[in-house]
Amino acid sequence: MAVTGKIKTAWFCTECGNEAPKWMGQCPACGAWNTMVEEKVATGGSKGNESHKSSRSDNAPVKLSEVSSNDKERISLNLPEVDRLLGGGLVKGSLVLIGGEPGIGKSTLSLQIPLLNPELNVLYVTGEESVGQVKMRAARIGGVQDNCLIYSETQMEDIIREAKRISPDLLIVDSVQTMFSESLEGSPGTVSQVRECAASLLRYAKDTDTPVILIGHITKEGSIAGPKVLEHIVDVVLQFEGENRGAYRLLRGIKNRFGSTSELAVFEMTGTGLREITNPSELLIPMHEEGLSGVAVAAMLDGTRPFLIEVQALVSSAAYGTPQRSATGFDGRRLNMLLAVLERRAGFKLGQKDVFINMAGGLKVTDPACDMSVIAAVLSSTFDMAISSDICFAGEVGLSGEIRPVSQTDRRVSEAARLGFRKIYVSKFAATGDAPKGIDVVKVADVPELVRQLFKN
Ligand code: TYD
Ligand code: MG
Repeated sequence: MAVTGKIKTAWFCTECGNEAPKWMGQCPACGAWNTMVEEKVATGGSKGNESHKSSRSDNAPVKLSEVSSNDKERISLNLPEVDRLLGGGLVKGSLVLIGGEPGIGKSTLSLQIPLLNPELNVLYVTGEESVGQVKMRAARIGGVQDNCLIYSETQMEDIIREAKRISPDLLIVDSVQTMFSESLEGSPGTVSQVRECAASLLRYAKDTDTPVILIGHITKEGSIAGPKVLEHIVDVVLQFEGENRGAYRLLRGIKNRFGSTSELAVFEMTGTGLREITNPSELLIPMHEEGLSGVAVAAMLDGTRPFLIEVQALVSSAAYGTPQRSATGFDGRRLNMLLAVLERRAGFKLGQKDVFINMAGGLKVTDPACDMSVIAAVLSSTFDMAISSDICFAGEVGLSGEIRPVSQTDRRVSEAARLGFRKIYVSKFAATGDAPKGIDVVKVADVPELVRQLFKN
């Protein structure tokens, strides 16, 4: 298909997809720096408009009351955690984007879907690996099924045509950055190509009522158009997080038109693919004997699910120069703030100390309820006094050293009780109901009171 009309270029932000007529150092839409790249755009045929023209001539407005509600139909993927993340299974005709850094497990997870669901006819399009490589991976995960067709192709029009011919129950496209549409200038991976390919998959999904899973890479440099560009095109965005080195991978719901976001599923990368971890707390709480200093457990909430995580701190005298502050899995600025609170409100001089913080399991934590356990872990390391391993914490620390209540304290308390904790420290102002049996809920007002309670002898 030849593109008629003049070829001109425009600048696109690789972060948000914003289009600008000239180069700018900072994207005016999302504020990111050095993300504008120049791309060819075809005018006249204007950005692949030909394929935007819907093939359906019978398309007309319908009364809301007459719309059939089979849109609600969902397919279970035999992966309970992923089903939960999707809001109860994959919705027919939806476009789901799975994003994440290279090597984190996107292809593995998407290949596990056909292998776990022999009754589902799946078309797996791979633009990155050869058919043989996919087969090797499938063999590794365990099981090569007849229900999965592998198609090594990167040209979008061919893919849509094959998909329409085969009409699978599920289409998987790995990855959007390798796909290109004939209707556009520019190589695969550019903002306009990525957008156009996602848009044609969306049209395919809606026209045929087939669910589509689309894989997208995120790079830290942002040199390749990231899935951020796609977020408003697709129905659901699931994002992989976690350290590639570590065994645990988190899949987080970022956007979901058919369910709640801020849900989280935890996986373990094993020798035979990804394994769902239905109870993450059990992995993330201490796995050592009593008596280690610098360890405190936080009862945190990610999305709607409570889990407990071990916070580790190491405080040591700075050997020379400026003391180091390092936080893994925790916001470095928030750590500095908490250390300032300790210094000013509780009188601990940590100015000449190196402070290291680490969240167990390579998790990234944003829940403010972890503040109290960060403080407890830092103090425990400073005094070299262990905190009993049946104690946990759930409270935010304010600038004046007050312990502030956090959301859903009761659920955190129940989870802690279920896992055998005997004492949980919460804010004095937290609204709590009756505590479950076996756990003591201790309410503290501020950091000095917490210190007295924890290290009184
Ligand atoms: P992959 O799914 O290829 O990542 P992505 O598609 O997101 O780039 O995952 C690749 C990593 O997972 C690689 O480091 C090897 C590892 N892996 C296992 O540990 N076990 C397995 O069974 C499989 C298939 C991969
Ligand atoms: Mg891959």
